[in-house]
Amino acid sequence: MRKALFPGSFDPLTSGHLDILKRCLPLFDEIVIGVLNNPEKNPMFTADERCSIIKETLASIDSGDCSVTVTSFSGLTAEFARSLSANAIIRGIRAISDYEYELKMTLMNRRLAPEIETVFVMAAEEYSFVSSSLLKQVFSLGGKIDGLVPRNVIDAMNRKSL
Ligand code: PNS
Repeated sequence: MRKALFPGSFDPLTSGHLDILKRCLPLFDEIVIGVLNNPEKNPMFTADERCSIIKETLASIDSGDCSVTVTSFSGLTAEFARSLSANAIIRGIRAISDYEYELKMTLMNRRLAPEIETVFVMAAEEYSFVSSSLLKQVFSLGGKIDGLVPRNVIDAMNRKSL
């Protein structure tokens, strides 16, 4: 049984996140998308809202033989992964600028939970510049973000900004 935790803020889910998830579907029997509950970071969406948005997006994709679930968590990613009995932690890499932060996080997570391997997946080129924070900024200033987030995410962002 190959089980992975895909942790993140997902504030909100982007097409880049979805691309990473889709690439991982054939690699694992089970993937748990772990949404970090981080109210101190003043997220646009609560953790519950982020989970609901992701579940809504997942309803429209074919996950094949891989079972995908979504849940929020608090505290350490390594501890949460261990509580799930996950074998792996999935992280996406866009550009070389992500590397240093990811390396530090991976080595710390490895120290905390040596039995869990972090697996890196490269996002498609067309999403290499896409981040939740950049999208929120562009959206809040009236720029178009179509195609860079799933359709239901734009709807949720529009509802938030009403
Ligand atoms: O989507 P993000 O914001 O890049 O995800 C970062 C995340 C949630 C994976 C990271 O901040 C994290 O793991 N936070 C939980 C607290 C923790 O485990 N910190 C130590 C990481 S080495």
